[in-house]
Amino acid sequence: QTVLSQLYHINNVEVISVIDSTNQYLLNNIDKLNSGDTCLAEYQQAGRGRRGGKWFSPFGTNLYLSMYWRLEQGPAAAMGLSLVVGIVIAETLIQFGCGDVKVKWPNDLYINDRKLAGILVEMTGKTGDVAHIVIGAGINISMKSDPLSVINQHWTSLYQEGIVVDRNEFSAAVIENLRHALTIFEIQGMAPFLPRWHVLDNFLNKPVKLIIGEREVFGIERGINEFGALLLEHEGEVKAWVGGEISLRAA
Ligand code: BTN
Repeated sequence: QTVLSQLYHINNVEVISVIDSTNQYLLNNIDKLNSGDTCLAEYQQAGRGRRGGKWFSPFGTNLYLSMYWRLEQGPAAAMGLSLVVGIVIAETLIQFGCGDVKVKWPNDLYINDRKLAGILVEMTGKTGDVAHIVIGAGINISMKSDPLSVINQHWTSLYQEGIVVDRNEFSAAVIENLRHALTIFEIQGMAPFLPRWHVLDNFLNKPVKLIIGEREVFGIERGINEFGALLLEHEGEVKAWVGGEISLRAA
């Protein structure tokens, strides 16, 4: 079991032992940050998931990472940015031997229908202004069990999949790959990432349903567009869907 260390060969990374939430920590310090600044923790007392959920964050076993990014394009571009984060983490996992990883729109990482990692993007900044973005990623590395059944979904970890990684090497690679990809995204937008998404997309050309509040829409998933919206073919027509309240399921 590796202990997270200061990753001396890469700059602007802070490693913390115990924190409420690495996302909250960066949000609290947002005025002092530069794009790419990162913090990692061994344990989160109040790890946050999407839609107000909690993120189970046991000590020393997983990766809890947050990175700040200043987005000149403003909050509207954040959707695309969060998809890029999913792509980069999936590709880094593949680089470390995890060949079966897939992305599920908007940005969950799955192996054989079990969740390996989740991404939570939070931001400050008004429409039209520069967006100050905190990208949070929780990646299950060597978690072996969930004795209290805190996790209310099918989950897995690299350990459960028979993959051993050095957490320091893996986190350094994730950080470097993210910084590189987000620099490209800032200049070129989603275009360079669309083919990369399609390779990893769990549901591409498969029957799915979208759940939007009380409503369900069935169709065939046709990937994403240049804004990061989900493309769904329904009654012969392809429509783009965006919004944090939509969930995607197999149908
Ligand atoms: C999800 O619900 O799938 C998103 C989970 C995101 C968890 C990460 S762990 C590091 C960062 N800090 C948090 O409090 N949450 C994110």
